[in-house]
Amino acid sequence: MSITQESELIGMQKISEVVGTTLKLMREYAEVGMSTKELDEFGGFILKRYGAKSAPYETYGFPGYSCISVNEEAAHGIPSDKKILKEGDLINIDVSAELNGFWSDNGGSFILGRDIHNHQPLVNASKNILRKAISNIKGGVKISEIGYLIETEAKKSGYKVITNLAGHGVGRSLHEAPDNILNYRVKSNRTRFKKNTTVAIETFISTHSTVAVELNDGWTLVGNKGGYVTQHEHTILVTDNRPVILTASNDIWN
Ligand code: CO
Ligand code: CO
Repeated sequence: MSITQESELIGMQKISEVVGTTLKLMREYAEVGMSTKELDEFGGFILKRYGAKSAPYETYGFPGYSCISVNEEAAHGIPSDKKILKEGDLINIDVSAELNGFWSDNGGSFILGRDIHNHQPLVNASKNILRKAISNIKGGVKISEIGYLIETEAKKSGYKVITNLAGHGVGRSLHEAPDNILNYRVKSNRTRFKKNTTVAIETFISTHSTVAVELNDGWTLVGNKGGYVTQHEHTILVTDNRPVILTASNDIWN
């Protein structure tokens, strides 16, 4: 959305703080032996405590308050009482919600406990690439330039990007224009980031796959060639300078 008055900025700051804090608390709450359903219900409880409504649950009829994707699941994992977290799991939590008509979105991948499967390099690459991508965004920068940066940085680290998942405008709804902030360059896309708009920037860095495909449950996405995918996401305000990280409370970079 385009921010034209202070009340809109305050609205975006509030919901971004809520989704960021929820993501952070969920990450801290996760432990070996816990089901992803239990973790999701904890997140749903926090959102409710703030008076916020889960975006996937309210808007898309998703069977959970947040998306929790474990190991080979790339995104949109359904919380389940049968999915029990184990030591060394690669977990992605994505929290998006609405409060007073404003929407915000954030996510992050992390390793539970000891890194016995050596996922840390992939997680670090994803975090660093998101940081670099965001620090290069300002009003007037082409969306395709940021796609090029993400793709190039992923390659440099020995990874690939998922080509059919993307960042997006956010604010008055969960997904709004621009809807195609891809992790690679589409040369024909001349759209530029605009000052005073709010967008969700997200990485999809992958070990083997380049396309996310849906499972029969109608939600869960996995890589077309297997392997692992990491995602880190912030909602930001584009300025003339460095963006304001509205979801900084999620602490995904620490
Ligand atoms: Co998200
Ligand atoms: Co998003």
